[in-house]
Amino acid sequence: MKQEKTEPLLDAGFWRAVAVMAIISAALMWGVVVMPIDRYLPEASTVSKPIDDLFRFCAFFGAPIFVFVNGFLLYFAIRYRHRADEPMDAVGSDIHEHHGLELTWTIIPSILMIVLAVLSYRVIPLYYPTDQAVASAVTLEAIGHKFYYEFRYPGLRQSVMNELHLPIGVPVTIDVTSAEESPDVQTGAVIHSFWVPEFRVKQDMIPGMVIPIHVTPDQIGIFRIVCSEFCGLGHSHMWGKVVVQSKEDFDKWYADQNRAAAAEAAGVQPISLAGGVASAGQTLFNAKCVVCHNAAPFAQRKVGPGLADLFDDPDHPDLVTGKTATPSNVADILVHGAHGDMGVMPNMQANGLSSKDVADLVAYLQTLHH
Ligand code: CUA
Repeated sequence: MKQEKTEPLLDAGFWRAVAVMAIISAALMWGVVVMPIDRYLPEASTVSKPIDDLFRFCAFFGAPIFVFVNGFLLYFAIRYRHRADEPMDAVGSDIHEHHGLELTWTIIPSILMIVLAVLSYRVIPLYYPTDQAVASAVTLEAIGHKFYYEFRYPGLRQSVMNELHLPIGVPVTIDVTSAEESPDVQTGAVIHSFWVPEFRVKQDMIPGMVIPIHVTPDQIGIFRIVCSEFCGLGHSHMWGKVVVQSKEDFDKWYADQNRAAAAEAAGVQPISLAGGVASAGQTLFNAKCVVCHNAAPFAQRKVGPGLADLFDDPDHPDLVTGKTATPSNVADILVHGAHGDMGVMPNMQANGLSSKDVADLVAYLQTLHH
């Protein structure tokens, strides 16, 4: 049964609601135009500004869309609520097949989408290089691990862990990928993310795929690298930093890296375990090791086994390296890391441990067994 139309299609109340929403929208759009994004999140690469302009475009038109969609939802719910004296099948304003309305809500979003597509198409090649040879002066590699970043520089003999040094104003290509540390589905390859908010660059690190991204830092400073893909228990601990330096400072750092590598190759000094402080080791353990290990019996695993009985466990007399559980053999794992059937333990550099830290941790682990 079709209900008779009893009121005008769009009455005075409708237009009053539109006027209110228009004022709110205008205020928000003004806010979007004047908002100093750079003050809250520095624009630290050459792509930051164009990305922020895209954001501004989306927010500028997104504001009225949000206000009108939700405003009408609210207004109509109140205006056309069921009243006690109306039949159950009463229809309010019948706008079914109202061509004017349908054209409006089809054409406006379509135009916005097309403009956004064209604008984006001009920004994307700024960080996804199309012509690599022209695009960059340096190519380096960023590899996601559980739960740290490894960076490989051309000409450096050792990887740099968690700290990406870049010279200001130099276009670099970063080949981004994730390590396939183990074929085991539980412990093996996962997706990480290389995200530097100040650069406005975010790229998933995908096992088996190398994705080049392009960055030209244009602000000296230290910025955070964030893993934004849930990659396991240590995800929230997966931080790195980008150090953007002057060309001179960068060259100095680069030279120091090779010098350090040469010194290490010349003679690895054994770590002295004497003087390890258990309480300092406990603090460190609770800050770093707990990401993967419990201070509990072996069976209480996280990524790796519980370590409480490390030095006295009849069921597991040997370490993951196959050696007996002596303090120096445990220190050896802390220094060099280990590859076990449960997963991969990063080395001392990746874990950000000093020689003293290793001694403290070994001292602490020795106090755990009761
Ligand atoms: Cu790596 Cu989250």
